[in-house]
Parts: sequence; C-alpha cells; structure tokens
Amino acid sequence: MSKRETLGIESMESLLSKNDDHIRKVRSINDAHYTELHHRKKAITVTYGCQMNEHDSEKLGAMLVDMGYEITKKFDDADLIIFNTCCVRENAEFKVYGNLGHVKKLKEKRPDLILAVCGCMMQQPHIVAEIKKKYKYVDLVFGTHNLHNFPALLETTLTGDGQVVEVWETEGDVIEGLKSVRKKEIKAYVNIMYGCDNFCAYCIVPYTRGRERSRKPEDIIAEITSLAENGTREVMLLGQNVNSYGKTLDQPVDFADLLLMVNDVPGIDRIRFMTSHPKDISQKLLETMATADKVCEYLHLPVQAGSNAILNKMNRKYTREQYLDIVARAKALMPDLGITTDIIMGFPNETEEDFQDTLNLVEAVGFDAAFTYLYSIRTGTPAATFENQVSEDIKHERIKRLLEKLNPSIMAKMHAQEGKVFEVLVEDYSKSSNAILMGRTRNNFTVTFEGDSALIGKLVKVKITRPKNFSLHGEVVEAEHDDH
Ligand code: SAH
Ligand code: SF4
Ligand code: F3S
Repeated sequence: MSKRETLGIESMESLLSKNDDHIRKVRSINDAHYTELHHRKKAITVTYGCQMNEHDSEKLGAMLVDMGYEITKKFDDADLIIFNTCCVRENAEFKVYGNLGHVKKLKEKRPDLILAVCGCMMQQPHIVAEIKKKYKYVDLVFGTHNLHNFPALLETTLTGDGQVVEVWETEGDVIEGLKSVRKKEIKAYVNIMYGCDNFCAYCIVPYTRGRERSRKPEDIIAEITSLAENGTREVMLLGQNVNSYGKTLDQPVDFADLLLMVNDVPGIDRIRFMTSHPKDISQKLLETMATADKVCEYLHLPVQAGSNAILNKMNRKYTREQYLDIVARAKALMPDLGITTDIIMGFPNETEEDFQDTLNLVEAVGFDAAFTYLYSIRTGTPAATFENQVSEDIKHERIKRLLEKLNPSIMAKMHAQEGKVFEVLVEDYSKSSNAILMGRTRNNFTVTFEGDSALIGKLVKVKITRPKNFSLHGEVVEAEHDDH
C-alpha cells in the first residue's frame, strides 16, 4: 500500500493542473478509439452506501466525462466498470463481492473491460489483500482519500500491465476545485466537511474516512452560488456530523453561522443537511433552523438506541433524556418538524430491558421514518471485541417487534396529513409511473401527484388526499409562475 504524497509541497493549483494533464492523456486514448470505431467508450459507476459515496461518484462521473467517456447504465455496454464500495455493515460488503463475481464473467468474455473498485471498503488493508489475492482480474483499486487522483490511476491502468493499487492510509488536505456530475440538478449535494472523529464503538466510518476536517465557508458558498446559477434550488449539506462543522477551521464559524451564509445565496430556496449528531446540537442551531427561511424543518437525528447503558457502551455521548429534550425543544420551535432516525438492534449486551427502552423512546418521539439495522460486527472497531454479542435470532426478533411498533405510528402520522396543503419542490416523475410527479415537502414527506412535466423544478402547493405506502398522494392547488 503506497503512502500518500505530501500535498503540502505542491499547491492546489499544481495538483489540479497535473490532474488536467492526466485527464487530457486518457481523453486522447479515448478519442483515438472514437476515431477508429466511431463510438465513445462507455463507463458505469455502481455506488453502495451513503450520500457521501453518492457524491464521490458524482465527482468520478465528472472526471469520466472530461476523459471522454459516455456514461451508461448497463454493465453489458461498459468498457469501464467502477464499484464505489461501502463497508458500514457486512451485507454491504457481500453485495460488492457478489457483483465482482458477476462481472468476472464479463471480463472473461471481454478482456479489454476495465474493472475498478474504490470507496470505503478499500480503506481496509485486509480487504485490499483479499482483492489482490482472490480478485486478480480487478484492474484498479483506490481508496476514499485519493479519489481526486483517479485520472492518473486510470491512465496508469490503461497504459500498463497488471493490477494498479493505490490506497492512502491517511487523509490529505481538503481538495477544492473538483467538478461533479450531479444526478439531480434541482437538488445538489455539497460536502461541508469530511471524516469523523466520534468513534462510535460499532462504526467503521472514522477508519475509512479519516479525521474530521471542514471546508472553508468561502469555498462552500462559492460552490453553492455556482450551483444556484445553474438552476439548483435545494442543497443538501453533507458531513458525518454536520453539527461540529468549523471546529477544525482557524476562523470562528459554526454550523449555524454556515446555515445563515447559505441562506443568503440568491436562487437557493431550500437547505437541508445530514447527518446531525445529538451530542453537538446547540440551541443556537435549532433557533437558526426555525428562523432562517430557506432551512427546511427537517432533522435526521440518529438515536441508535433508547437505553442509556447501551448509548454509553456505543460511545454516543448523550443520554435518552438529552435526546428527548432536543426533540422537545426542536418541536417547540418548529411545530411541523419532520424527524427521522437510525436505530441499531442487538448491539453487544443489549438486554430485553434495553430493547424496551428503545421501544419507549420510539413511541415518545413519533418519528416520521426510521432506518433500522441489525448490529453488524466491523473488524477493527471497539465493539467487535465486546463480550456478550447478541445472537442473530434475537436481533431479528427485536427488529420485527420494533417495526411492529414503528410502522403503525408512521402510518398514523401519514393519515394525519390528509387535507393539509404543503409546498413541494417537484423533483421528477415518480418511479412507478410516467404520469405521476414526485417531490418533497419542507419537512421531508415524499408527495406524489398528477401533473405536467413543466412542473419539474418548480415549487407547487399540493393538497394531501391520502397516504400511499410511506408517502403521501395529493393534488396541485397552486403552481409557481414561469419566471423560475
Ligand atoms: N454519521 C452518520 C452516519 C453513519 S453510518 C451518523 O452518525 O449517524 C449510518 C448508520 O449506519 C448509522 O447511523 C448506524 O445506525 C448504522 N451503522 C453504522 N455502523 C453499524 C454497524 N456496525 N452495524 C449496524 N449498523 C451500523
Ligand atoms: Fe460513525 Fe458515529 Fe461517526 Fe456517525 S458519528 S460516522 S455513527 S462514528
Ligand atoms: Fe458506507 Fe463509507 Fe458511507 S462505509 S455509509 S459509504 S462513509
């Protein structure tokens, strides 16, 4: 595994211009292919994991387009396949290994096909060792910290022999100036910080994404301003723990200050963010959410467990009482607040009593949605060595009982929205039908309704007529004028 180059000795400009050289070289290889065969080489990126990874794939997408690739959605068409991997739970890894097995057959049929694997899994030495040993047909392996070096690595792969592996063990400086091809122009992801310093006992992310570091506010605002100029109306500010934004910067700026700066960017109508860590939510932040007009009344606030004993063992640094207090204060300031969470079932030592505490907490909060996970042992994390691991049977049984509590309460909440009128930002057609549009309310309900494609990208008022699964169905009562 090669060590990272020290970015300190070369400026950001020279790094980006070096990158441009590699982009040009790959492009000239691809242009020669086009001249000969009259079709462009195609690339597909398959993304596993969280929004951080999705956004990294958008950055890879921009580099691919600059290097002369056409983006495809089909494996069979592709000349280059990239798996951007996640290792937050074991089944995320299984999916990657399964797909690597599947594309092996394609590679056997078409030896020119290039296979690349990157992302969080590759930051783990035992996984890279496995790829080197058992997946020799993979052409290129790189990690999360050297994503910006992809053009150079791809050039080496295309022009040399054998497997190219470059993973940096530690994070470098924050890299500015990389473009991204964004799937949804109406809504855009914006990184405000990278890495995580929280070391929750179960979690692999601090090991795959490195130490917490914030981007400078001026760089963030410049990016959002340019997005707004290109038609983006909603930004999702991304970080593993956005509430601790600014701690690594010289200037005194916190997350609430950043929200106010983003609130001033003309053309942006909505601001969302994720993920919030309960331990760092300040009253100032809640008040800013309530008063800054573009900041949506929505919090994704992972609780993970409802028992203080388990929260303590998880190293979450808050109690259930503190969590419930944040929710109460947030709802007092924002009565329509949408609130969702993450919950882990079967963390080591979780007793029936601890589980009951989680059920009670779920009942007390009344979440709009919850992502529920079975605890998955991650090698290298503290909890992997904890005694009293909970059996898979008990985990499954508890998650079933948790969902039996959660789902009816979410449905009741959905029913309670009938007759209300919401402002919806229209994103696209719904997945199920080309006649039905979909968008989200400020408090993050998904709403479907009939309407013309001209409404996509517009803010409309929708009256809710009925719940539909875990979303809402309604009818447009007022559409925005055409000057948008
Ligand atoms: N930084 C975010 C997201 C981290 S990963 C946060 O702090 O909330 C997303 C979710 O995956 C976590 O909230 C947690 O619920 C879940 N998760 C992380 N590690 C896990 C593990 N080892 N087993 C099961 N779920 C896990
Ligand atoms: Fe993982 Fe905890 Fe960091 Fe979230 S805050 S990424 S759960 S260590
Ligand atoms: Fe997975 Fe990495 Fe995100 S481990 S959840 S893709 S930060």
